[in-house]
Order: sequence, then C-alpha cells, then structure tokens
Amino acid sequence: MKVPRLHPDTIEEVQQRVDIVDVISDHIVLRKRGKDYLGLCPFHNEKTPSFSVSQDKQVYYCFGCSAKGNTFKFLMEIGKQSFAEVVLDLARRYQVEVKTVEPEQRQEIQRQLTLREQLYEILAVSSSFYEHALHQSQGETALTYLRNQRNIEDATISKFQLGYAPGGWETLYRYLVEQKRYPVNLVEQAGLIKPRKTGGGYYDVFRDRLMIPIMDLQGRIIGFGSRSLQAEDQPKYLNSPETPLFDKSKTLYALDKAFSNIGQEDCAVVVEGYFDAIALHEVGIGNVVASLGTAFTQNQLKQLLRFTASKQVILNFDADHAGVKATERAIREVEDLVYGGVVQLRILNLPDGKDADEFIKSREDGAVIYYQNLADAPLWLDWLINRLIADKNLKTAAEFQQVAAGMIRLLNKLQDANQRNHYLTYCAELLSQGDSRLVLQNLANLKSQVKSTRPKYKNNYSIKKNNSSVSQPTFTIATNPESELLEQAEALLLRIYIHYPRYRDEIIDRLEAKDLLFNVASHRFLWQQIIAIEEEITGVSAADLNPLLSKLHNRSLDFPEKMMSVTKLFYLDEKTQEDVFRADVRVAEAIASLEQVNYQKRQIYCTEQLHNLNPNTDLKLMEYYYQEIQSTVEKINQLEQIRLAFSQDPVL
Ligand code: UTP
Ligand code: MN
Repeated sequence: MKVPRLHPDTIEEVQQRVDIVDVISDHIVLRKRGKDYLGLCPFHNEKTPSFSVSQDKQVYYCFGCSAKGNTFKFLMEIGKQSFAEVVLDLARRYQVEVKTVEPEQRQEIQRQLTLREQLYEILAVSSSFYEHALHQSQGETALTYLRNQRNIEDATISKFQLGYAPGGWETLYRYLVEQKRYPVNLVEQAGLIKPRKTGGGYYDVFRDRLMIPIMDLQGRIIGFGSRSLQAEDQPKYLNSPETPLFDKSKTLYALDKAFSNIGQEDCAVVVEGYFDAIALHEVGIGNVVASLGTAFTQNQLKQLLRFTASKQVILNFDADHAGVKATERAIREVEDLVYGGVVQLRILNLPDGKDADEFIKSREDGAVIYYQNLADAPLWLDWLINRLIADKNLKTAAEFQQVAAGMIRLLNKLQDANQRNHYLTYCAELLSQGDSRLVLQNLANLKSQVKSTRPKYKNNYSIKKNNSSVSQPTFTIATNPESELLEQAEALLLRIYIHYPRYRDEIIDRLEAKDLLFNVASHRFLWQQIIAIEEEITGVSAADLNPLLSKLHNRSLDFPEKMMSVTKLFYLDEKTQEDVFRADVRVAEAIASLEQVNYQKRQIYCTEQLHNLNPNTDLKLMEYYYQEIQSTVEKINQLEQIRLAFSQDPVL
C-alpha cells in the first residue's frame, strides 16, 4: 500500500481518540489490576502475566521483557506496520478525517525534525570559534587568567574546550550569519544572539567572556556557561538561555566526562561551580559534576543514579549561607528518594567555607585531603540534624523547643523502624548535651511525639463484628502482632533472596510447595520485579556478582513510590546480616509464619461464613465451617510450636 503523508492534525486527533486498552484488548486478554490492566506479554513467552497497560498514561510496559510504548508503537510492533499505516487504520476505526500534507507543509515538518540537528551544528561551530579566539591575541587576557589565576593546565583547557568570546557587539553574529550563512533565526534559537530593541539587527549574547561549553551525555554541545573577566562586569556567570536543546534543570555540567568515573567509584559528587568541577577533574577526581547555578533537581539526581550501583551521591555545595540553603533545598527536592532510602545521600561542607576549587588549590596535598573529606562526609540526616543544633543554645527553653520540634519533624519522615530508633537515640543524646542522666528522659519525650511505624495494612485481617446468636468457637483472631510477624517474615525472605543467591532455589521451592504468596502489597510488587528481572538476566557476568540487586536498584528509580518502602531490603545492617548468617533456620521459620498467616485468613473466612448462616436451614454447612475453624486453629498452634522451636526469640 502506498501511504500518503499524513497531516499532523490527523495524527494528533487519532492520538486523542484512541484508547490503548481498547486497542490492545483486540490482541490479548487484559484483566484489571488496581488502576492498570495486566495480561500475557505478546512480545515474549511467559506463563504469568507481566504485561501491564496504563489507561491513565496510555502506555504499556512489560516487566518481563521491558517492551514499552504507546498505542502506535504497540500496533507497529505487533503488526509490523509503518507509523503511517497504523495511524491510517486507527483513523478509520475511530472515524477521524484523514488529511494529508501538502508539499510545502511537508517541508516545514522536515525542518522541524532537523531543527535540533542544525542547532547542534551551530553550537559546535560557535564553540570552535571561541576556542580559536582564546589562543589569538584578543584572548590573551582570558588565557592568562585561566593559566595564572586559575592555575589550569593547557591540557585541561582543551579537554573542557574552554574558549573566549571576543568583545564587540556582533563578532559571533558576523561570523555565523554573514560568513557561515547560518539562518539568523536559528542562531537566535541557539541562544547566541538577541534582536536589538531598537533599530533592527542583532547583538551577541556573550561578549568579552570566558566561555565554558556545556555538553549532553553524548558530548554534544547544548549550551554555554560563561564567566566575566572583570569584577565590574556583571553578572559574574552568564549561561545560555533555555533553548530546544538546553534545559538547565535537566543538565549537569561535565556529566559526559564524569559518568564512567561515577561507575568506577560507585559514587557521584555534585559541586556548585563549573570551575569546581574542572579543578577536581584536573587532579584526577573525575566522578564530579556541577549544577548550573539553578536548584538541584530530582531529574538531575536520577541521571546520576543511573551510573552508581549502590546509589551514592555526595553534595559538595559551598559552605556559605547560600550554599547551605541550596543544600537544604536540594534535600527537600529529592526527599522522596532520600527518605525512602533509594539514594545514599551525603553532604560535604569544606572547612572555612571554601568551595572545592579554592580548597584543593589552598594547599599542596589539597586533592588528597579533599578525597578523604569525601569519604568522611556525613549522611544527609546527620547533616540536617546538626544544622538544627548549629549555633543554638539548648540551655534556653525556647531554642531547646525549637530544636526538638525540628528533630521530631525529621524523625516523623523516617519510614524504617530501625533507622528511626537509631536517630531517636542520637537526637536524645544531642539534646542531653553530654548529661547522661537526661538521655532517657529526652528519649521518652521524643518517642511520645513521634508517630509509630506500624504498617498501614494492619487492619486487613480484622473481622466484622456480628451480633449473631451462634455460639462462637474459641480461636484467636489475627491482629497486629501477626500482621507485623507476617511483614517481618516476608521481608526476611525477600532480603535473603536478594542478597544470597544460593538460597534462591530453596525459597522458591518452599513457596511453591505450600502455594504461598506475598501478602504485603509492596512485597508483592517487589516480587514481581524480581521475577521479571530474573527472566531478563541470562548468563553470569563476572563483573556483577549480584545482577539482581543492581537491577532492583534501577527499578526503584523507575517506580520510586512503589519501591520506597522496600528499598531498605537492598541493604544489610548488623541485625539483618545476622539473620542471613542463620539463613537456613530463618527461611524455614519465615515460611512457617507465612503459612500460619494463611491459616489465619482461612479461619477468618470460615468464621465470617459461619456468622452469615441460618442455624435453622444451614446446619450442615455450619458444622463444616465449624470443623474447618477447629482444624485451622490446630494447624496454627502446630506452626506456632514449629516457629518457636526454631528460635529462642518469640518474634523473628
Ligand atoms: P560562584 O560565584 O559560587 O562560583 O557560583 P565560583 O566557582 O566560586 O566562582 P569563581 O569563578 O571561583 O569566582 C557558582 C556557580 O553558580 C552559577 C554558576 O553556575 C557558577 O558556576 N552562577 C554564579 C550563575 O549562574 N550566575 C552568577 O552570577 C553566579
Ligand atoms: Mn570558586
């Protein structure tokens, strides 16, 4: 079939009319699961459904083979059709009028597509121009500044492609537009020239400035930073405006040069200034990027996390007032990921309020000491708590209250019970200022004001009160302790599964033998991810001993909310390490707990049925349920004995 070129309006309208669930349902059976739909993936072989379709977002995603896309992509893949064919079919199906593109419009569309390509080219040409100018006589001041005042080596200058924008109002304009014949509107869109307010014509954005090209991950120039060379020349730093290529909130300076080092060091460092990053790279600390004079964003953090397997990020902003505020703002901005434990965030403030550049140049062994400081940087939470008490006088009641209230606010956000307990004690100690007699009292005070960390699903198993006259058999109803028991047992199984590959087969066997499922929603989600990842992983790579774990870390970035409460399972602390040390026993114990909870659910179900029966007509059924309840109670008691036999401590 010869497919005409479709008008964008047609594509747009089709996109608005189609429903992805409707379309995909023609091809596979979809069942509603919560907000989304789930079915067997048509793009790979599977027995359990992992193909999910979101009606809200109008996209599909397969947890098994990672196939993803929108309705168009789905139909293109499944029917091996071109984009235009798919749109045409859909237009017929949804009765959308088909318009085709006239030749001149076609040109316009083509131009739109290549706009980005042309902007890349213009920026690259401009950067060469600036680089060249730096080494001409006009760039002498700038070059001397770099070499002598900044102590930057020539190799670094060329590695970072530093340059000089000559003075004068239209040097670059003339070069690009008059000499190189680039369309003036494109040069303007690249953020390099601006129209004059009066009299027509254009002028250069960057004049008599040191130029710092900013690259994307692939090393393509997408914009510029620049620094003035005279103190009276304000602003000190001037960046490219936002353009189709340049979005400051999504860009990190030097990421193209840092990402492989971030992988090797398994840690990323974020500094505030271009020259901080350049100076650190120069001394061989290469896992460093800089923000672009704007607030640090979640998007920027996520980009960094792609490269560090254990999700370590260190913020090294200036230690002055503005820098500290920027750090606090950054932590707030990435709060979801930080409090959920998705990222191991640490904060480095250098002594004497120095920035990284000043610090490493202030002494012979600056780089070594900087590196040590990185290693010693406190965790974000310790840093925040210490900010609370910094220059506060805890002897005055008002300031004491202020600090305590701040601590409670922070503690309340912690989701992990162990972590919360640790910091409760830490805060109580800080408030007691070395007077050990006060610690317990302060601890009790803090505890009484911090919300408990009981899991939310604790009421799942409670049963409806019913005033039926039927005499109730004696049994125990599963309440909080059992829910907590279940939560812990499941968490333990998952933790052992994730960290100790040699127990994986055993865990799967035991779960399958007893037909056990994970009950806690977040655990179920995690389990789905694990199964999906394992279908993906083929062969063993020597470099990554536990590919499951690294892939799980990545998934927690894709689903930050859903994974938030389970990321703690990706780490081992002293207590959990000990659990794993006795894994044989612990696995058996946890399985028994899961089984026990299953029987409790059965028991509750039978009890509810019993309550709803009529003693006059359903006597037989009543007897059946009554016996079921008795036998589940027996099973539960047996399992309880087994569990106790396994360990001395009553709770896992
Ligand atoms: P600083 O002024 O702290 O930079 O700004 P610095 O590195 O210490 O400056 P010098 O060169 O050593 O004197 C840090 C970052 O904030 C942004 C820039 O991205 C800069 O790298 N900034 C700063 C601006 O965007 N505009 C400004 O006027 C100043
Ligand atoms: Mn500086």
